[in-house]
Amino acid sequence: MSQRDLNKGAGALFRDEGQDGLLHRAFLRGEGFTEEEVRRSPVIGIANSASELNPCNAGLNELAELVKEGIREAGGLPLEFPTISISEPFTRPTSLYLRNLMSMDVEEMIGATPIDGVVLLGGCDKTIPAQIMGALSANKPAVLLAAGPRPVSCFKKNKEFTVDDVWPLCEDRRVGAVSDEDWLALEGKVNVGVGTCNVMGTATTMAAIAEMLGFALPGSTLPAANSPERAELARATGRQIVQSVAAELLPADLVTDESLENAFRVVSALGGSTNAVIHLEAIAGRAGLRIGPERFESWSASTPYVANVRPSGQRLLADLDDAGGVPAIVQRIGETIHGGVVTANGNTWDQVLADQEFPVNDAIAPAGEPLSERGALVMLRGNLAPRGAVLKAAGVHDPKLKAHRGRAVVFDGIDDLNTRIDDPDLDVDQDSVLVLRGMGVLGAPGMPEVGHIPIPAKLHRAGIRDMVRLSDARMSGTSTGTVVVHITPEAAAGGPLGILATGDEIELDAAAGTLRHFLSEEEISSRVPFAAPPIPTRGMGWLHQRHALQADDGCDFDFLRATGVQ
Ligand code: FES
Ligand code: MG
Repeated sequence: MSQRDLNKGAGALFRDEGQDGLLHRAFLRGEGFTEEEVRRSPVIGIANSASELNPCNAGLNELAELVKEGIREAGGLPLEFPTISISEPFTRPTSLYLRNLMSMDVEEMIGATPIDGVVLLGGCDKTIPAQIMGALSANKPAVLLAAGPRPVSCFKKNKEFTVDDVWPLCEDRRVGAVSDEDWLALEGKVNVGVGTCNVMGTATTMAAIAEMLGFALPGSTLPAANSPERAELARATGRQIVQSVAAELLPADLVTDESLENAFRVVSALGGSTNAVIHLEAIAGRAGLRIGPERFESWSASTPYVANVRPSGQRLLADLDDAGGVPAIVQRIGETIHGGVVTANGNTWDQVLADQEFPVNDAIAPAGEPLSERGALVMLRGNLAPRGAVLKAAGVHDPKLKAHRGRAVVFDGIDDLNTRIDDPDLDVDQDSVLVLRGMGVLGAPGMPEVGHIPIPAKLHRAGIRDMVRLSDARMSGTSTGTVVVHITPEAAAGGPLGILATGDEIELDAAAGTLRHFLSEEEISSRVPFAAPPIPTRGMGWLHQRHALQADDGCDFDFLRATGVQ
């Protein structure tokens, strides 16, 4: 029997007339479900990643109740279950370190329990890719609903204070330019509600990807957390999963070369997070597919960047929502989109967009006048990044830096960086290239979001706000600057980043898509290789160091990918 047949109709155990059925119904009756309820069909699991240790997902319990209403309206039986939940700020050593573990939790719970389909409730950066990866491997019908962006706040004179506004204040605080009083006041203003980061960071980028891959309802990415629109989306998601089970809409049929291309083109048009590259490759790998840096680059290079939203643009996510959200973006870049790809409601994008007219506002650049002719993310290659690196070109503050040659100032890990970056004697100027290594998927481990290296204090005081920064780390989707991340292979896996020394010349040329050093073979062979960290002897650390793949393979565990991925 194929995996698909095995998975199909696992909720039938509740409808069985023999001993299995009796026991399944009896156990639920013990929870207080009625005789009528335990005979409902289909049986829908709700994988809820709500957690007080994940503030971005803390509102999902309310959404779960509304999803249940929708499932019941459509005749189904909702059964909610918890999964682990990964918080960007609260998880150590990093959130990515636990993404694959969460995907295994989601996959195994979907596979192990007597449910016909599942609603995935996610939000914070890693939770959505983990849920998509797990649901794809489990391959029962699945519809995802994201938490939605949290509200903006007001801090001092800034009435539209968003999470990306925190980073410059942190830099100012480092050089003594923010008072203790303001620092304390800021604490109460960064997050004034639950929900995900209120700019086009990783969470919103991943929710948009879920829409494009047919996991989340069209238009579901941008309505705010706790809004009436999101409440209605929750009920609609509940009704939809019942239909998806009836229609046998299976995740393995949704993730195709065409839907992956659509997803990345929308990320490119949105100015989305660099993290999308890693997660999309991991999702592709679960479907037996591979994207690769060349295709990422060719899709980005041929997709206009049109969403004028923070952190790279000016407007709020709420403005983009008013302009029609992801469907309006799909329409705007329609000539690059495969319109026959199926969405989560079973209709194709062409059908979803037929006769749709969206309100006009400047969160989306007018037709024919994109913010840039090419997409926001640039894939780089070269002798310093043989298997690739990523630059969010839309986030570059000083355009001159997109073509820059300078002298490396190398930091070995975050402790070294923190110790020396603000040293008045550090030999650095505005033309230097700041290099941070040992922060890759194996080196850190889990690629922390530290690629946004702070500007050295003495240069910050002199008014410098952007420099070329390189690392094998990741970067928060809420950050901007001339920041090259995901240099692959990483230093700890023998990548050339590991043999660089302070003073070496480095050249970034974003237009040519290159990142190079100028060391001779002789010089390279005389350098001491970068030392990989020791492999832990047990537990998650052992599993991770033995099985995590590099960034260009999505950092998935090798044993979780579909067989046959090259
Ligand atoms: Fe959770 Fe940004 S920290 S979405
Ligand atoms: Mg992040």
